[in-house]
Amino acid sequence: MTHAASLQPLAARRSGALNGRVRVPGDKSISHRALILAALAVGESRIAGLLEGEDVINTAKAMRALGAQVAREGEGAWSVRGTGVSGFAEPRDVLDFGNSGTGCRLVMGAVAGCPIAAIFDGDASLRKRPMKRVLEPLMRMGAQAVARGSGGSDLPLTLIGARDPRPIVYEPPAASAQLKSAVLLAALGAPGMTTVIEKEATRDHTEKMLGHFGAQVRVAPHGEHGRRITLEGQPELSPAAIRVPADPSSAAFPLVAALIVPGSDIVLDGVMLNPLRTGLFETLREMGAGVEILDRRNDGGEDMADLRVRASALRGVEVPAARAPSMIDEYPILAVAASFAEGVTRMRGLHELRVKESDRLAATADMLRVNGVETEIEGDDLIVHGRGRTPGGGTVATHMDHRLAMSAMVMGLASDRAVAVDDAAFIATSFPDFAGLMRRLGADLS
Ligand code: S3P
Repeated sequence: MTHAASLQPLAARRSGALNGRVRVPGDKSISHRALILAALAVGESRIAGLLEGEDVINTAKAMRALGAQVAREGEGAWSVRGTGVSGFAEPRDVLDFGNSGTGCRLVMGAVAGCPIAAIFDGDASLRKRPMKRVLEPLMRMGAQAVARGSGGSDLPLTLIGARDPRPIVYEPPAASAQLKSAVLLAALGAPGMTTVIEKEATRDHTEKMLGHFGAQVRVAPHGEHGRRITLEGQPELSPAAIRVPADPSSAAFPLVAALIVPGSDIVLDGVMLNPLRTGLFETLREMGAGVEILDRRNDGGEDMADLRVRASALRGVEVPAARAPSMIDEYPILAVAASFAEGVTRMRGLHELRVKESDRLAATADMLRVNGVETEIEGDDLIVHGRGRTPGGGTVATHMDHRLAMSAMVMGLASDRAVAVDDAAFIATSFPDFAGLMRRLGADLS
C-alpha cells in the first residue's frame, strides 16, 4: 500500500476556552538515547516514561536487531539487556528508521564503532535527508559506507563499522546534536580520548546520559556559546534507571494553543526545562505570554516544572540566530504564535530548518500563507506579519512532517475559519495521542 492510499486528513475549528491539566508524552531525544545506551551497557536497564511514538519504536526494533534484549513491560515501561560496548551483532535485516533522522543518525554512530555491517533505510522523507554530514566523521573514525545518490550518501546505505575505531577531534560544521551524538557513540568503541568541539552548544542529553551509564565525559565551555566535550573510549557501561521527562517540543503545541484561544487556562505537567531546549519558552515570554513555572524540580539530572499557561495578548519580536539550537524544532509553532501576535516577528538564522523532516522553512511559510497570513523568507530568516488574528480557511500540505501537522491544527483552533491538513498520520511519530489530548482540553479537531 502506498502512503497516499492511507492519507489521514484532519481539521481544526475555532474552539472555546481550553482548560485542564495534561501531561504530554516522554521526550523524544531522551527516549532514543536511553534505548541506545541501555543496549550498549552490560546488564539490564529500566526505562520509565519512554515515548512510544513510531520514531522511538523503530529505534527499539533496531536495538533488538543488533542483539539487545528489549521488552515492553507496561505503558512507557521498558527493560533493555544490553550487549556491552562494541558488542552489537550483525543484523539480519535492514534497519528501518521510518521518519526518524535522530534514530538513524545516532544508531549509525553506535554501529560505526562496532566491527559489523548494517543496512540503514527510512521512509521517503528520511531518504531525502542529508547523511553525508554524519558519514564524514564516522569514516574518519574508520567506518565505511556504500550508498546511493550522486554524493554517495543517500539512504538506503550500508555502513561497515570500524574494526579498530580511531578517536578523533571533531568540530561539527553545523549546530547539530545528532552529529555530535553520532561521533560520541562511535567513540565508545575507540581507544583513548575523542573530543567534539561545538561552536554553538546543542542539546546535551547524550553526554549527560553517557555519564549516567558510567562513562568518563568532560564538558567545558568553548568560546562564547560553545562547548568542548571529551569522552574516554572503551568504557564498560553499567545499566541504569532512566525516567523520561515530558517533551518540551511536544508541550509547545498545547502551550501555544492555550495562549491563542481566548479564555484558556491549562497546566502542563512535568515538562523538561533543560536550558538547551527552552528557547521557545524564552521567546514566548518576550512576546508577552503568560506562562507560570510551578514546582520547579530536578529529576534524574534534568530540570522540570509544571507550566500554567493562560491566554495572552502577544506582540511580535525579533528572535536572534544564536537561539536557534535551543528551539530548532519549535519554529513552525512559534510562527503560528507570531501570526496571532500584533506586529512583525523576525526569526533569524533558520538554515538548518531546510533539512528537517521537510524543508520546514518553506513549508512553515506556506502553512501561514495558505491561511491568509503575510509571510516572507529573506535569506535564512522567516518574517511573519502578525495582525492579532488569522483568517484560516486553508489546507496545509504537511510533507510527511509531524510538527507542521500539529502546528496547523493549533492554528485552526483560533482562526476565523477552519484549518485542515492533508495528512495527520505522521503525528504518530512523536505524539501519538495528540488529537485525544487536545480534545480533552476542549479543542475541536475532527
Ligand atoms: C535532535 C536533534 C535536532 C532536532 C531533532 C532531535 C536530537 O536535530 O531537530 O528533532 O535528538 O539530537 P539536529 O541535530 O539535526 O539539529
